[in-house]
Amino acid sequence: MIKKIKKVGVIGAGTMGAGIAGQVANAGIEVWLLDLPSKGENTNSLSSKGLTRIKDPDMPGLMSAEAGNLVHLGNTRDDFHELADCDWVAEAVVERLDVKQDLYHRLNKCCKASAIITSNTSTIPIKLLTEGMPREFCERFAITHFFNPVRFMRLLELVRGEHTKNDVVDTLAMFSELQLGKGVVLCADTPGFLANRVGVFAIQCALHNAFDLGLAPTEADAFFGRPLGFPKTGVFGLYDLIGIDLMVDVVKSLVNILPANDAFHQYSAPIDFMTNMIANGQTGNKNNKGFYRDDGEERQVISLVNGDYIPYERLRAPLVEKAEREGISTLLNDNGRFGLYVWRALSETLCYAASLVPEVTEDLTQIDDAMKLGYNWVKGPFELLDEIGVEYFIDRLQKDGREVPSFLTRGLENGFYTDKKTGLSSLDANGFFFPIVRPKGVLRFSEIRQTLSSISSNRSASWYEYEGAAIVEFHSKANALDSGSLDILSEALSESQKMGLRGVIVHNDSHHFSCGVSLWSVRDCFEKEDFNSLDAFLVYFQETMLKMRSSTLPVIAAPVGMSIGGGFEVVLHADHVVSHANSVMGLVESFVGVVPAGGGCKETLYRWSDHLADNQKAAWKSFMNIGLGKLANSPSEASALAMSRQGDVFHMNRDYMLNLSLSSLEKVKKSIDREPMALSGADQFQEMVGWLESNYAKGAITAHDITVGTEIARIVTGGECPAGTVFSEQDILDAERASFIGLAQTAETQARIVAMLDNGKTLRN
Ligand code: NAI
Repeated sequence: MIKKIKKVGVIGAGTMGAGIAGQVANAGIEVWLLDLPSKGENTNSLSSKGLTRIKDPDMPGLMSAEAGNLVHLGNTRDDFHELADCDWVAEAVVERLDVKQDLYHRLNKCCKASAIITSNTSTIPIKLLTEGMPREFCERFAITHFFNPVRFMRLLELVRGEHTKNDVVDTLAMFSELQLGKGVVLCADTPGFLANRVGVFAIQCALHNAFDLGLAPTEADAFFGRPLGFPKTGVFGLYDLIGIDLMVDVVKSLVNILPANDAFHQYSAPIDFMTNMIANGQTGNKNNKGFYRDDGEERQVISLVNGDYIPYERLRAPLVEKAEREGISTLLNDNGRFGLYVWRALSETLCYAASLVPEVTEDLTQIDDAMKLGYNWVKGPFELLDEIGVEYFIDRLQKDGREVPSFLTRGLENGFYTDKKTGLSSLDANGFFFPIVRPKGVLRFSEIRQTLSSISSNRSASWYEYEGAAIVEFHSKANALDSGSLDILSEALSESQKMGLRGVIVHNDSHHFSCGVSLWSVRDCFEKEDFNSLDAFLVYFQETMLKMRSSTLPVIAAPVGMSIGGGFEVVLHADHVVSHANSVMGLVESFVGVVPAGGGCKETLYRWSDHLADNQKAAWKSFMNIGLGKLANSPSEASALAMSRQGDVFHMNRDYMLNLSLSSLEKVKKSIDREPMALSGADQFQEMVGWLESNYAKGAITAHDITVGTEIARIVTGGECPAGTVFSEQDILDAERASFIGLAQTAETQARIVAMLDNGKTLRN
């Protein structure tokens, strides 16, 4: 029977414990966070530091102030009794068996008999953790292995012991999926479980091969990153992110727990160059110097030849771009050292993953899921093998004289996944295909798409019919919007009406919904001085946004990750929004020296006006939202910034959003057309310009910020017109477009766009 979890205890308020407590509170559940008692006046200073950490605006573990109020702080000396009526106690203290076991004895005495106890251990087997504990304790004990940062990493590895009862596993799985928003992967109690077992192997293999082949960090990261569907940090960037010293400890701990014949050991030896870096305090981002460093002025990268830092330049190898466009085979067919590097690092990683079936898991989807949810890979190892072609892969291994893991040969005939009619199935350890069964309510569009044929598709987007609805999927790089994306959205809106579909859902299962209008297209126009084409594109963008509303069908936007700039304008024009709890939204155009011109200014203004029933206040709020490029990092922030409307909903788990959207279609009310609006006019426009000038005088903003801010002010007030002048929706859209085109012609805006595209940097000119 599934138990209800209403009160939670977390012991250990370090990186993980504080993160777990934060996510429990985000789910609206009361949680006690205990650490060791501190000397001095504040005996709870350790747990208090934990809470402060999850309030860090750069990586907010908490979604709202209300969530913060649900976290009670305490220490294990004075407040242990608070755990007595907890339904679940998660232990996340230091990785020491004696410390953990001591706590279990105390918990066994203190907690109610039905309480579930789990450990967040990365390396200690359940057998050892529960050694000497009574059977009843072992029956309600499991490992819940979260990933850092807990709020944002999707994976939860759930490990049962020999005696763990089914209802304990079921309760934890359901609670973690639905309330904590995690993708639960059930793992056997084997060293490193699944994600770290494969992930740390991949990192080490890519690192050692880069050193062996003499690749610079920028070169290795350019290839062992985006082109393979791995995070853009690549391998050296990832080392910096985790901490070079911490990674060395992780490797050491895997060396200690993996069997002696494990292939990991060939990549576990310390590298002298890195040992020296650690001795010099070059331990990564936390010290602001690792393989990369940023001294505020310039990003630099270390030379692996002499250890000097040299200016960083993004590698612009045509091969990288071709691979991002055309797929991994492009890289594997390359005969140069980059191709060799990718082949070596990737093939060894994929062989390693295959070698874990069936001993570590019989279900290859668990390995793929672990890598996708825990390491943010777009495809898991077996999906990558299918993309590369198992026959080619094995053939090449054999040509290299390398051993072929036996499970790999099972995929020779039909690959590891099969799609179409019967639904998505995966190959089991014995070579039979079985349907992939996801928990009820989980619909991942990346999986469903494989069983469908698109109705229409181009390089930037596709649309499909699924369960009587049109699903529009953006799939360009970073899901940047261009005329191709608009063609598909526009066609889906028209055709779905003709086909009598239930509605249109704009959704995708990538990391980000959309990072806005393609700046490459904008750059292309200003470099050719072709501002007519730019204007025509903006007209098309605005018309498509209005078409979302004029369609007689309900239109739902279901954004995940970032929906910023033009991406957020799409969200703003939907009738209803089903977002992920970690969605990041906002209009950030000002950073690249332009204004939102797909109806973003207009919609912000109308929404504030609906909210405040005062157009002057609404104009000021809009000026601030857009001018400062404010971002909402959670549903409560979106609501406070008038970026969401009453009735918009969110789900903690992105895997459930599509299902929720499909089941909401019939309940959606079409948004009504915007009435003309009386704008505040010249006085407020001047007030805003005055605000810009005084902030420039204080050094808070730059000269070009004044120019951009003035345009925003002009749009939201109506500019030099009498107060109360009435503007239609189209008038405001025209003003947006005029400002955009004017700004795009300035050298400063062009410099901002070039800096963003070439170096990923916001230029403050
Ligand atoms: P941490 O070092 O950041 O925090 C550990 C906390 O436990 C400290 O605040 C410490 O004061 C407290 N503590 C130590 N003894 C205690 C006791 N007897 N009673 C109460 N609190 C006590 O460690 P971190 O990184 O949070 O790791 C915690 C656990 O999570 C470990 O088992 C680790 O292996 C595991 N883990 C860590 C991950 C990471 O990325 N850091 C990822 C996944 C698992």
